Amino acid sequence: MKLFVHLVSLMASTSVFFILQTEAAVVQYKVINNAKGTKGSTRFEKEIGVNYTLATLAAASEFTWKIFKQGKSNERKNYTLVCLYIENFEGIVVTKNSDIVFSAPFIANFRGDVKEEFTSQVYHAAAHVWQWWGNDQAPEELIHGIADLVMMKAEEDEQERQLLLRPQRRNRNNGSRRPNVPWKFILRFLDFFQGKDSEFVAKLNKRMETGYSDSFFVDAAGKGIEKLWEQFQTHFCGCPPRRLTVSP
Ligand SMILES: *[C@@H]1O[C@H](CO)[C@@H](O)[C@H](O)[C@H]1NC(C)=O
Ligand SMILES: *[C@@H]1O[C@H](CO)[C@@H](O)[C@H](O)[C@H]1NC(C)=O
Ligand SMILES: *[C@@H]1O[C@H](CO)[C@@H](O)[C@H](O)[C@H]1NC(C)=O
Repeated sequence: MKLFVHLVSLMASTSVFFILQTEAAVVQYKVINNAKGTKGSTRFEKEIGVNYTLATLAAASEFTWKIFKQGKSNERKNYTLVCLYIENFEGIVVTKNSDIVFSAPFIANFRGDVKEEFTSQVYHAAAHVWQWWGNDQAPEELIHGIADLVMMKAEEDEQERQLLLRPQRRNRNNGSRRPNVPWKFILRFLDFFQGKDSEFVAKLNKRMETGYSDSFFVDAAGKGIEKLWEQFQTHFCGCPPRRLTVSP
């Protein structure tokens, strides 16, 4: 009897442990609309919707983990909740930790397919949520370049496109969401080396967990940043003679 009780309690504690372990790995997604009653909110509800947003957040997170080669939950940030807020502010989208804050006026005023634009923005933002920021020491353009790369790869990915019902549009601004230099060159630079080694960005990101140094490029691609930039330039004549990094 005593043994039986012990066995049952052992099984109980084992299953509790199992549940805790499983729960730690699960990420929940939430949409919080703080702009109700505005034009942006109305358009959000009509043309995008909460359910679509939840599906997009989950898909974008999973896609980001795929690019970063973070298949297991212990390989990535330990967030268990990612929230997307619709708020009244001028701008497009701001990401802080695991919160994504989307502008209602941007949704209201966007000309064209707002659902498609929103989807791409969510992929970029989800990459920001999951990427390592080099303890805030990494160059801003590299951080955005990595997020743009995740977004562009999703736009190129047949399965992602079918899942999210949106057309391919990677050629706009030559791949980058940002028409201005230097962004688009960073994206092309990363894409060039990602094309040579599909783990390049994953390795770079992994190194950026606790800080940033230009030498991470040596670890990720076997060459220093100057050499890589030279190699990239040789392949893409016409891009400006410019270094990648703008480290302070
Ligand atoms: C959103 O999803 C929930 C739960 O799956 C469902 O009950 C609801 O009808 C959906 N809403 C819309 C607008 O599709
Ligand atoms: C998640 O990681 C942070 C630091 O990266 C740590 O402070 C926090 O305690 C961790 N949370 C859990 C639930 O493991
Ligand atoms: C776009 O990128 C290609 C290389 O991928 C380059 O040849 C072309 O000049 C670029 N176009 C513009 C408008 O920047």
